[in-house]
Amino acid sequence: MTRDPRAASTSPRDFLGIESLAPGELETLLDRAEALLPAAMGQVRSEPKLAGRVVANIFFEDSTRTRVSFEIAAKRLGAEVVNLGASGSSASKGETLVDTARNIEAMGVDAIVVRTSISGGAALVAQHVDRPVINAGDGRHEHPTQALLDALALRLRLGSLAGKRIAIVGDIANSRVARSAAHAFVRLGAEVIAVGPPSLIPVGFDAIAKGPGKVSITHDIDGILGDLDAIMTLRIQLERAAGGGIAPDYRAGFGLTSERRAKLKPGTPILHPGPVNRGVEIDDAVADDVADSVILKQVSCGVAARMAVLLRAIAD
Ligand code: NCD
Repeated sequence: MTRDPRAASTSPRDFLGIESLAPGELETLLDRAEALLPAAMGQVRSEPKLAGRVVANIFFEDSTRTRVSFEIAAKRLGAEVVNLGASGSSASKGETLVDTARNIEAMGVDAIVVRTSISGGAALVAQHVDRPVINAGDGRHEHPTQALLDALALRLRLGSLAGKRIAIVGDIANSRVARSAAHAFVRLGAEVIAVGPPSLIPVGFDAIAKGPGKVSITHDIDGILGDLDAIMTLRIQLERAAGGGIAPDYRAGFGLTSERRAKLKPGTPILHPGPVNRGVEIDDAVADDVADSVILKQVSCGVAARMAVLLRAIAD
């Protein structure tokens, strides 16, 4: 297939990463997502600002929350949605992500949501299509709508993130969630502490995020628990790990067990992007804690966050 010479750059309507957002955009999106939360939850009727529009979800990696909430977000706004996965599409015949996206664009869709195992894959698609591209997770790189929903769930709980100490625990090395969250939280003025075994924290992670906050690294989870305002645990990304499985002593070393939870300040919110591997990075009793686990609140915030991002891409 010949390349379209028109399309060689990304557009301001693309949503490719938190790192590349213009100053103030994160706050604007958060304000908008918060205002959209009642509509996202069906408590009030949402204005069908995307009526007559079509959103294509191209998900070349599995997903439950992200794919379904993009679909619900689009439908709440009146758009139609088409879903394409790797199995059941011509990706299984060797068609590339870019060719897939260009063909979907040629059918006249209004926005393309992309999930891929290729780090930088969403930007690559954006360089080859003229329609807005939204990154729904690209390899180890970024998962910007996840960071938006994480920040919203925290803002609802803490009021503001400025000056707050937020630990992100686990497989930082392979997690796009950790990278996007660190960028977002630091922009919003928080101190992010990356916690995990040395093998799961990349050298230089403390220098990635720019903003009023900062990132630090520790390998000692027990030393920081009592001094946190929020804690996010992560799944070990087995599909991206260079080798080996989950270390047999991972839970003992870094799992958020009930014993560790008891060392948190009362009311410290507990986050997890899902999917949860119960009994590994977090214990059942902690994940299901009705007072302080905000895991399902994050999921609800995800619909509102994706509504805000779709409006920015198509309607504004
Ligand atoms: C995350 C992802 O896909 O990066 N999940 C999600 O979108 N909620 C985290 C993970 O898979 O562990």
